[in-house]
Amino acid sequence: MGDGEYIDYGPLTDLIGVWAGDKGVDIAPEPDGIENNSYFETITFMPIGDVTNAEEQTLAAIHYRQIVQRKSNDKVFHDETGYWMWDEKEEIIMHSLTIPRAVSVLAGGSYSDKKSTDDRVILEVSAGIDDENWKIIQSPFMQKNANTVKFHHRITVGHGRLSYTETTDVEIYGKRFEHTDQNELLRQ
Ligand code: HEM
Repeated sequence: MGDGEYIDYGPLTDLIGVWAGDKGVDIAPEPDGIENNSYFETITFMPIGDVTNAEEQTLAAIHYRQIVQRKSNDKVFHDETGYWMWDEKEEIIMHSLTIPRAVSVLAGGSYSDKKSTDDRVILEVSAGIDDENWKIIQSPFMQKNANTVKFHHRITVGHGRLSYTETTDVEIYGKRFEHTDQNELLRQ
């Protein structure tokens, strides 16, 4: 880990800080159709330094915590944590996440060049159950009853704004369901 020295977080730099947004739209599975939830949330991204793997790979890492509340009753209905990591040498980003349904994901992907996108950064990562590199891990119960087969997450961040779209494909109630979430947040 970095001992207080300067760390370059590259394409992840703009994430650092506390964000809040109340324009969330969630489409989630229900036994007899879909559930459509409006939500508000806070996401806190905290720089944690760099790590070295096998003496040759260096990753700059940011820890985050996302707390999502239903607008209808203020209840927290999604709680997520993990890391965003940047491998400068390979020019890739990675996103690890875990949620208390006993599901974890390690997604990988790419980022845009700031200059081509109006000084905003686009971060795009995905994972799949059959993907060779970027995988999903879940409990035996979830594998059997609510199997996450694909995950895709795209964030656009810059100028004090962060927006994202996220798609989680889940096999549940005898069919494949596209569970989606999107929101726009402002830096606090
Ligand atoms: C803002 C983000 C998210 C919100 C607000 C959200 C919300 C929900 C809601 C409301 C349900 C329906 C079941 C329930 O009422 O508890 C659900 C189901 C589910 N979610 Fe999410 N979710 C989010 C992100 C994710 C992510 C990132 C994953 C995994 C990568 C995930 C995996 C699942 C799975 C596997 C189910 C099926 C379980 C069930 O319906 O019994 N969700 N989610």
